[in-house]
Amino acid sequence: MAYKDIYDGWKADPEAFWMQAAEEIHWYKKPSKALFDENAPIYEWFSDGLTNTCYNAVDRHVEAGRGDEIAIMHESPITHATKGITYKELQARVSSLAGALKMRGVEKGDRVIIYMPMIPEALEAMLACARIGAVHSVVFGGFAAHELAVRIDDCTPKAIIAASCGLEPNRVVHYKPLLDKAIDMAEHKPEFCVIFQREQEVAKLNEGRDFSWHGFQYGVKPADCVPVEGNHPAYILYTSGTTGQPKGVVRATGGHLVALNWTMKNIYNIDVGDRFWAASDVGWVVGHSYICYGPLIKGAQTIVFEGKPIGTPHAGVFWRIIQNQRVKSFFTAPTALRAIKREDPTGEWIKRYKLHDLQAIFLAGERADPDTIKWAQEKFGVPVIDHWWQTETGWAIAANPLGIEELPIKIGSPSVAMPGYEIEILDEAGHPVKDGDLGAIAIKLPLPPGTLQTLWNAEERYKKSYLTTFPGYYETGDAGIKDADGYVYIMARTDDVINVAGHRLSTGAMEEVLSNHPDVAECAVIGVADQLKGQSPLGFLCLNSGCTKDHATIVKEVVTAVRNEIGPVAAFKLACVVDRLPKTRSGKILRGTMVKIADNQPYKMPATIDDPAILDEIKVALQGLGYAKG
Ligand code: COA
Ligand code: AMP
Repeated sequence: MAYKDIYDGWKADPEAFWMQAAEEIHWYKKPSKALFDENAPIYEWFSDGLTNTCYNAVDRHVEAGRGDEIAIMHESPITHATKGITYKELQARVSSLAGALKMRGVEKGDRVIIYMPMIPEALEAMLACARIGAVHSVVFGGFAAHELAVRIDDCTPKAIIAASCGLEPNRVVHYKPLLDKAIDMAEHKPEFCVIFQREQEVAKLNEGRDFSWHGFQYGVKPADCVPVEGNHPAYILYTSGTTGQPKGVVRATGGHLVALNWTMKNIYNIDVGDRFWAASDVGWVVGHSYICYGPLIKGAQTIVFEGKPIGTPHAGVFWRIIQNQRVKSFFTAPTALRAIKREDPTGEWIKRYKLHDLQAIFLAGERADPDTIKWAQEKFGVPVIDHWWQTETGWAIAANPLGIEELPIKIGSPSVAMPGYEIEILDEAGHPVKDGDLGAIAIKLPLPPGTLQTLWNAEERYKKSYLTTFPGYYETGDAGIKDADGYVYIMARTDDVINVAGHRLSTGAMEEVLSNHPDVAECAVIGVADQLKGQSPLGFLCLNSGCTKDHATIVKEVVTAVRNEIGPVAAFKLACVVDRLPKTRSGKILRGTMVKIADNQPYKMPATIDDPAILDEIKVALQGLGYAKG
């Protein structure tokens, strides 16, 4: 069947479409229907079914006789380790950890924070929680203690599972001191912590509170899978919004299983036993959906990669792994390809490896620039598929569904809406615009299974952030256009979220840190174009009158503060001192205009600007930092 038939079939009868997709999932009790809309605009899926994520991702493959096949390959060029774990081994390890958690009192609905690097134990911890119905919240290792503390206070975990350390190419990330500091800072205290001691760094355990991963499991009875309702939260994943308070996206179990399973074949063309690799991190949604859950639910092989696209040890590391692991579909961020292309523009590393099994490269997380796509198309000779989605949706809103049919690729577009998503481009008043016109991208409610059910402990915030601007729609926060063939083009965010190396960051959160500096009276952070990382943050500081401190020192201090408070992943390295910030007469800082000046883009003088001369001052400041030179 062609994409159009499948999409039209979904639209004609969404209920039948999703109930049929649900047939591929194991249910202890089948759901009576797919959509539960009694509480609209809060929608749920498969609420009265009973299922278990871990059973679907692990046990059922063992029971189907596939226990000796590899479920997880760990590829760590940083530690020089390559290790496979079969489905049978995974089942034993996960049920043992789940049993130990259960013995310490973790029950269905309890939250567990996971703070771990790219090691198989991170997936095991996620699956162990799922096994007993506990709700995990994975925190990315590049975040600092304060960010971890904010998440501890928001989701109040009974336990935290962490590793002793993470390994970046240039340094050891000391997870345990960060964890201790976060627990000190947080008001909520977990009852206990489980620490996976890595051989690269053994952490000091706090007597009475911390257990070592292995000791914790000694002699415990392995736990069976606990059936949970379809609307039971599978996990909470925090993502950046407009303020420093991250949003806790809640993913419900039933829809998550059904939707991810559907995407593996239909989007990525992955069947049972195929090898799939998403080079991301478990701390991000891509890691949740496509390092851990999607491939395992399907019964495919996944790869946990601890390394970087370049420098660990060279720009051929992706291709070596794709060759050795016979990867069929590969998913990465455009930034990673840009980094490789910069080091190996002629593809010398690519030529060294046999990539016969590779059928497609998927890109997401940020805009895929045409140069990079063309380079990859030419070098690999396989479809290079851009697809667009968000932490909130958990899977692709728009894609080129390779497993259904390869649609013509239009470079610059992540292609067309997937079944479940009706994409509209709206003007400010919420009316659909003409094909080819720019507007806010919105999705007709209800969102499909596998998307966010609500925000953790913040239903009103969920409604206000996503459902209020355009009644009847979910507001994506992205702006773009749709052409006559239904292809969408994602142009920019409509809020203060920026995307740095595929990492979603809040400029609002950075501004909160800058404004805490005692000499800073006012500030703005904008995302300026960066050839490698897509965007990079840049700060403007207005100092308190009478401040005599050296500007360079203040800049250094705020750079350090962002690194310490938000984390190295914020990549906040540049700031400058200015006398004034450009504002509207009502006092709104004109960040968008500042970005255009920095990026040498044409801009219209905002009609409501208070004092146009300030823009000239901003331009001079930007030139001092190497921007606005055009
Ligand atoms: N734990 C701790 N620190 C981390 C981290 C982690 N998991 N991930 C990144 N960091 C740190 C880095 O060490 C770096 O710190 P530094 O300032 O001390 O050098 C900082 O955060 C910024 O990291 P990053 O943005 O990754 O930049 P980089 O210069 O280290 O690497 C690339 C550049 C392009 C190689 C890298 O950004 C990359 O691999 N990008 C792809 C990202 C990706 O796959 N995203 C997936 C989203 S779907
Ligand atoms: P995250 O929640 O971290 O996955 O970030 C989601 C945001 O990243 C989206 O709202 C977009 O702004 C951006 N994004 C993701 N994928 C794409 C893509 N293929 N093209 C353009 N922007 C993208």
